[in-house]
Amino acid sequence: MFRWAARRWMSNVPEGAVYGGPREQSLGRRVTLGQLRQKQRRGEAITMVTAYDYPSAVHVDRAGVDVCLVGDSAAMVVHGHDTTLPIPLDLMLAHCRAVARGAPRPLLVGDLPFGSYESSPSQAVDSAVRMLKEGGMDAIKLEGAAPSRITAAKAIVEAGIAVMGHVGLTPQAISVLGGFRPQGKTVESAIKVVETALALQKAGCFSIVLECVPAPVAAAATKALEIPTIGIGAGPFCSGQVLVYHDLLGMLQHPHHAKVTPKFCKQFGHVGDAINKALSEYKQEVESRSFPGPAHTPYRISDADVDGFLNELQKMGLSEAATAAAAAAENVETAGRSSEDNNCS
Ligand code: KIV
Repeated sequence: MFRWAARRWMSNVPEGAVYGGPREQSLGRRVTLGQLRQKQRRGEAITMVTAYDYPSAVHVDRAGVDVCLVGDSAAMVVHGHDTTLPIPLDLMLAHCRAVARGAPRPLLVGDLPFGSYESSPSQAVDSAVRMLKEGGMDAIKLEGAAPSRITAAKAIVEAGIAVMGHVGLTPQAISVLGGFRPQGKTVESAIKVVETALALQKAGCFSIVLECVPAPVAAAATKALEIPTIGIGAGPFCSGQVLVYHDLLGMLQHPHHAKVTPKFCKQFGHVGDAINKALSEYKQEVESRSFPGPAHTPYRISDADVDGFLNELQKMGLSEAATAAAAAAENVETAGRSSEDNNCS
């Protein structure tokens, strides 16, 4: 009864059957912060991948990944910017909503974009609240650990929202870092990574991303912290790992992305090649008129209705349209019969 009621009132369950729509959202099986801590305690690696839209979210969900980050890397890999700085909160929220519809299982973390949390703790809380209320996220991530960020993280946690921290290379700070540069490569910088991670833990963060730091620095931070660390370009000694969806799939091949694909990223697929091949074949088949063939021309009209339709067209003075319809009916029938014949053989 409850399930029927839930389904009936979910506006995203399609009534028609022409296109497959979203699946019914499965309630009550979302990965929790407690489950992440259990994995960490058992020494099991936590998995995290970014997603930005409904299809990428469905794939991440089906792969059984623990945490899905709607990263501000969307600015680069989806919108083609050179940095993460330009993406506004409203656009991030649109990405979050699409991901929330596609990924009912992983813990959903929404990245607070540059400009949405630096001015004051109340700005940070307001943006974080929007991530949950309007974006459908379970938690937020913010970058950096300057005293004002620590205050913001604490305020957000006090508002009842789980916060993931992010130290090391923090792409929103490239203006002061002088570009996308690894961090923690000197004693002073390495200590700063550990200290800032500890400060974020004290502020109440449930996990910390360590980006582009040497493996010993990430190992030290992971040991010093009670909460899990998630590494990206930080070596194998973190509690878990994260990669950007497009990077790990080998999805982008245009010159801009080739320029910024990070050294630490292993390409687990070559989806870009598969996409290029499929698009070229589509173009070629449309141009040669071999697509759509009978197998992809599914909707039939009976002979009697074709006759009636032709008569009506003639009455309307559309005799050329009637001739085109008659020829098409004949062609589809012939092609359909030969494809059925083929299927039988
Ligand atoms: O925006 C993003 O994708 C990130 C990950 C690289 C951690 O912050």
